[in-house]
Amino acid sequence: MLTGKRILLIIGGGIAAYKSLDLIRRLRRAGAAVTPVLTRAGAEFVTPLSVSALAGEKVYADLWDLTDEAEMGHIQLSRVADLIVVAPATADLMAKMAQGRADDLASTLLLATDTPVLIAPAMNVRMWQHPATQRNLATLRGDGVRTVGPEVGDMACGEYGPGRMTEPADIVTAIEAQSEGGPLAGRHVLVTSGPTHEPIDPVRYIANRSSGAQGTAIARAALHAGARVSFVTGPASVPPPEGVDVIRVETARQMREAVLAALPADVGIFAAAVADWRMASPSDRKMKKTGGSLPVLEFAENPDILAEVSRHAQRPALVVGFAAETHDVADHARAKRERKGCDWILANDVSDGTGIMGGTENAVTLITADGSEDWPRAGKETVAARLIDRIAAALSGGTSE
Ligand code: C5P
Repeated sequence: MLTGKRILLIIGGGIAAYKSLDLIRRLRRAGAAVTPVLTRAGAEFVTPLSVSALAGEKVYADLWDLTDEAEMGHIQLSRVADLIVVAPATADLMAKMAQGRADDLASTLLLATDTPVLIAPAMNVRMWQHPATQRNLATLRGDGVRTVGPEVGDMACGEYGPGRMTEPADIVTAIEAQSEGGPLAGRHVLVTSGPTHEPIDPVRYIANRSSGAQGTAIARAALHAGARVSFVTGPASVPPPEGVDVIRVETARQMREAVLAALPADVGIFAAAVADWRMASPSDRKMKKTGGSLPVLEFAENPDILAEVSRHAQRPALVVGFAAETHDVADHARAKRERKGCDWILANDVSDGTGIMGGTENAVTLITADGSEDWPRAGKETVAARLIDRIAAALSGGTSE
């Protein structure tokens, strides 16, 4: 619930602006008061009248409106809120925010504020994927701006891909998660999850049985504990949790780039089942059967992301790795902790018959510098909650054990 919270809602100029009317309704139903700000472009998509009718409050639109300045200056307006939400956040608004421009009411409020900001990007797929937008996104994240979405799907412009604004109900969930506080409030947690796919040719790839279930559960638990979560995921079979910053990758090398770009973080949890090897030179054409002779696949070693981050100048205060083993689990995991340079290892037995890899349960042993601890077999959500509790305790004690 958002009872007693005041949210300043900036509505940017995109077709998704119509969803912001539903967002206002849902925020108010959750107990929040909504002060709406409509950009000039936003007013092309929704009318000030419908926005103010739903918000039950005056709409702010113009920086130079002297009445507004007399009633409440823009500096004050930007600070009375508990949270500023930008929905939809267009490519243009994100660019302005990243540059620190202040040439209209919305951008001025965003520059003048010290209130937490959450943006819900919405734009055409190509605009979202453009290096300029991705650069702006990285800058904004570095400035502490939280994001929700965008989602992958059909776009109003007829294209398909990432760019749809997150549904209002899910934006409210993300806002609630952020405003509830919790033991990891103010912390940035980076989680890797899922398998990686390493192409052999345009239609074939090397993969593994990881579903992404454990990493997803950990990201959700970190979010519920109040953290800002960057979730770098390979092609997993379970959907990512709502409310985290999702960065989708396919290969180990893409995962490495995304992880390094997401630093700094307070905690790094490396739950992804990263392929150890890739093709040395994947074919750019589909490989053909050739009269009886078999193809020879030459491998190259993938970067070890966990080991690299553990020794990185921006190393998180606490780095947690996983060890999926089929035999001598604890021994291998202890050696792996040393070799990779991480603080903790969660070791699990993925041998045939355990049903752990790709399943719903996990049985882990936590290995720290001080020793090891067997956790009872439980649902992956329970294992995640336990891990996040341990992490919160370690951070508050100022120790990584
Ligand atoms: O060496 P191994 O694959 O068993 O190590 C498992 C741990 O290392 C996991 O935490 C996994 O996410 C991480 N890892 C990685 N990059 C790799 C291989 C594994 O981050 N290339």
